[in-house]
Amino acid sequence: MSNQEAKNRIDELSILLHRYNHLYYTEDKSEISDFEFDQLMAELISLETKFPEFLTTHSPSQRVGGSVTKEFENVVHKYPMLSLGNTYSWEELQEFDARVEKGLGSSDYEYFCELKFDGVALSISYDQGQLKRGVTRGDGTKGDDITTNVKTIRSLPIIIPKLTEAFEVRGEAFLSKDVFQALNEKRASEGEELYANARNTASGTLKMQDSAEVARRKVSCYIYSFLSENDLFQSQEEAIIGLKKVGFPISPTYKKCKNIHEVFEYITTWEQKRHELPVETDGIVIKVNNYAQQEELGFTAKIPRWAIAYKYKAESATTQLLNITYQVGRTGAVTPVAELQPVLLAGTTVKRASLHNANEIQRLGLHIGDFVHVEKGGEIIPKITGVDITSRNLHSEEVTYITHCPECGTELVRTEGEANHYCPNTAQCPPQIKGKIEHFIDRKAMNIDSLGEQTIKQLFDASLVRTPADLYELTYDQIISLEGFKDLSTKKILQGIEQSKEIPFRVVLFALGIRFVGKTVAVKLATHFGNIELLMNATREELIAIPEIGERIADSLIEHFNKEENKIEIKRLQNAGLCFIEEKEDLASVILEGKTFVISGVFSKFSREEIGGMITSNGGKLVSSISSKLNYLVAGEKMGPAKLEKATTLGIEIISEDQFLKLLENGDYV
Ligand code: IVH
Repeated sequence: MSNQEAKNRIDELSILLHRYNHLYYTEDKSEISDFEFDQLMAELISLETKFPEFLTTHSPSQRVGGSVTKEFENVVHKYPMLSLGNTYSWEELQEFDARVEKGLGSSDYEYFCELKFDGVALSISYDQGQLKRGVTRGDGTKGDDITTNVKTIRSLPIIIPKLTEAFEVRGEAFLSKDVFQALNEKRASEGEELYANARNTASGTLKMQDSAEVARRKVSCYIYSFLSENDLFQSQEEAIIGLKKVGFPISPTYKKCKNIHEVFEYITTWEQKRHELPVETDGIVIKVNNYAQQEELGFTAKIPRWAIAYKYKAESATTQLLNITYQVGRTGAVTPVAELQPVLLAGTTVKRASLHNANEIQRLGLHIGDFVHVEKGGEIIPKITGVDITSRNLHSEEVTYITHCPECGTELVRTEGEANHYCPNTAQCPPQIKGKIEHFIDRKAMNIDSLGEQTIKQLFDASLVRTPADLYELTYDQIISLEGFKDLSTKKILQGIEQSKEIPFRVVLFALGIRFVGKTVAVKLATHFGNIELLMNATREELIAIPEIGERIADSLIEHFNKEENKIEIKRLQNAGLCFIEEKEDLASVILEGKTFVISGVFSKFSREEIGGMITSNGGKLVSSISSKLNYLVAGEKMGPAKLEKATTLGIEIISEDQFLKLLENGDYV
């Protein structure tokens, strides 16, 4: 491909990808499938790698990240990022309204109400129609330049051809409730500590050095302010509608209010409804709508006189701390839990609150019997926010953290730099044993759905099962002797256990519950090594050399496979007939093995995804771009001329849909 051709194709792909991205994220429409989108993106990235002179800072490929920033540059905000006055009371809002009326010398003004999104404030500047810089709020005067990370926010435009003058927008970046939950589920399946709330996680994410990891986290954003030297908009309403029109992500929850009474209605409307939104919110923001009037009112030293935040009360209560108990998870991590005198909070009775770790207990300086303040905000579990020292019993003592496992008595360990204490007795500590078996039989793992938490407990209590391998040695007589079991339920359990022997290696590897080996990592390891022996014998260096396997995962694998009891367990599972080889038979056939394919254009019998599926399930490999190493180009209607020309020049075999189907059947298409 000549330089000029590469440039043309890069331009063409950039326009297409920006457009599809915009349609998908701001208009909820998709003209192509995710697969096709990924293919175009892969083609663009491959061209930009080969022709780096054509890689621009506004390329759609910036969305997937890739660059690593060691230290973010501290930059000065053009317009300082101020905060807002806060209030929790309607009286104070009424006073705010009176000040606005007095300041303007008239009652001829309107308010613009928005929700107050609980995320991370960003300032994003554009010039000549391109996103130039994304900066954190920092101290309000100076923030960190996190442009590469901001570009991974899919809903945020990287190019705005319709607005070429310099301007800045402000908005709130956040992890949507769904994304946050999925992230925590993934962490749970990897045996990692859960993140406490979406806001701090979003903040941590945007400060990550590896932008590719940021891209995977799927950060979202809502824009709520526009700033520029020119009078493009006359009011907040115009700005919000105008920004929405050119493609910025705007929450549809705003409302123009004629007076403070309509503002009160807005507050009431959203008090409960806000919980249904995809983003956490903690209040509403009330802004004088007209920009000229905003200017007239101006600012105090720190906050605007034309806006105020009304915060919904984080529901809180005071209750007595009865005790602290300690839970041991399947990985041995110990979590302290506050046992409370039951108290009504946000419509539910709260009896317990998470205390995270020893540092948290120390920070709060808790004594048993203390009266503590409990709050339910963005967090999943209520948290203790403080202690009422005035009502403390003088004879009570400060809580000291346990030194030994409450379940098995083993001395706890705390690795340098880690917040959690661990029980190292992985092989004998009951909750660790039960937790590992529960993980093993889980729907996402070996899927033995005839077993459940209760049965595992019964099997454990009867000393029948200590490790997953014991499940495969259970007999009919042993199970039926348990309380509540009859012929049918016993047979069902045995059948479920038997069926699990069909589960492929990649899933078995996940089911073993090795720390940091989640589903995705398990698939990578299984396909890379092909069987358990090669994986067990791999050195740290070999493991780290695999893309996306880091030091933490490598160390965890080595530690796991070094333990004699784990080696024995794997041997027993192998003897029981579980799958420890990544079977090629998972495929429909291997007729396309060793062959690479590019699919392009539109087909009459099958969709592109279907053809792609047929290729991979018959042993072939899909690649994103045409190179001299490519075996086949499956060409449909309306295929790009550049591709066709490139394939012809390189002498690649170009086949039609029908020829492909013949190839699939006979290994040959003539
Ligand atoms: S407007 C002059 N609108 O709240 C300040 N802020 O306490 C203009 N926030 O730092 C800010 N949602 O991070 C505005 N709809 C919204 C908002 C919002 C959340 C945050 C923002 C700001 C803080 C102010």
